[in-house]
Amino acid sequence: KTVHLDATRIEKAGHKHFMAKEIAEQPIVLAEAMTHYVQNGEITLPEALDFTKFDRITMVACGTAYLACLTAKYWFEQIARIPVEVDVASEFRYREPPIPARTLAIFVSQSGETADTLAALHYAKGKADMILSVVNVTESSMARDSDLALPILAGVEVSVASTKAFTCQLSLLSLLTLKAAQQRGKIDIGTAAKHLENLKKIPSLISHSLAISSDVKKIARKIAKAEDVLFLGRGAMFPLALEGALKLKELSYIHAEGYASGELKHGPIALIDNRVPVVVMAPRDALFDKTVSNMQEVMARGGKVLLISDAKGIAQAGQGVWETLTMPEVDPVFAPILYALPAQLLAYYTAIAKGTDVDQPRNLAKSVTVE
Ligand code: G6P
Repeated sequence: KTVHLDATRIEKAGHKHFMAKEIAEQPIVLAEAMTHYVQNGEITLPEALDFTKFDRITMVACGTAYLACLTAKYWFEQIARIPVEVDVASEFRYREPPIPARTLAIFVSQSGETADTLAALHYAKGKADMILSVVNVTESSMARDSDLALPILAGVEVSVASTKAFTCQLSLLSLLTLKAAQQRGKIDIGTAAKHLENLKKIPSLISHSLAISSDVKKIARKIAKAEDVLFLGRGAMFPLALEGALKLKELSYIHAEGYASGELKHGPIALIDNRVPVVVMAPRDALFDKTVSNMQEVMARGGKVLLISDAKGIAQAGQGVWETLTMPEVDPVFAPILYALPAQLLAYYTAIAKGTDVDQPRNLAKSVTVE
């Protein structure tokens, strides 16, 4: 038994849970993946991947991988100017969606074995011009059955709730976006280089931000008392609001919902009172002021806001909020990769405060290989 315990401690590299270890590993694995995919300032991807051959992208996945796809839709559309559809695999596979010519189908999966995603991939075969899978496990069924499989290089992920695989998926999808934008002539060399520089900074920004853990721990003790929590975000931060809510419900069993800030007044505002913490994920991007005004609507109704932004954002908008988490300044385009960290930590420490099984939450499985 002692031997077993020691072995487990080694596997967790001194952390209490695999999830903590995997969160902490993100700066390293992200930096390594960047080194793998970017050489001498050039994004190196197989030549077979030519975005000038496609007029649209369809992305399919489940769970957290689906939310990575939703985030990438904002990037592909805004930066590479290519229309993207995103679907959960269980819906896609049975809807029998038409797949027009010149479609690139991308399947994102940590395990590469999720039954619905794999079935969706098989449906798209012979219809889409190219099947690309973005996987962590390179020997997986999805990798094998694709025209091209790109590894996210996150390393083994043990905790049921996906953390480093999510940020590695985002990082690879952002590189695919930049490649697509270059190939399609949508950005000049200077802009592409600037984006790459900003992306390269993310691992160290995540590393610095791990210091917010002690603040998150304190806030999580209060969140643990809530029965419902709302997450709000706009633009590419909207999928991250969904991810924050997904993580929290998976790990702490607290009911949580993510909403696009602008949808607040179309429903969730009815839930606002002083028992429902509202987590506002707001880097200072072009939509910051709009998010802040949604946040003020929440506070005007007695809502308790946890504002996650950088120091300037908090100085500008933090008056009267319940709690704040201060993030470093980051280029707004790829802010979702950095802001995944507070979402993960909040779920982690709330689970600890509630005493739930962090690495193996009830009723959930790491890889869902049955329908
Ligand atoms: C399960 C896991 C999630 C994961 C999802 C998709 O629900 O608990 O963490 O995001 O499956 O898994 P995949 O391996 O396809 O990324």
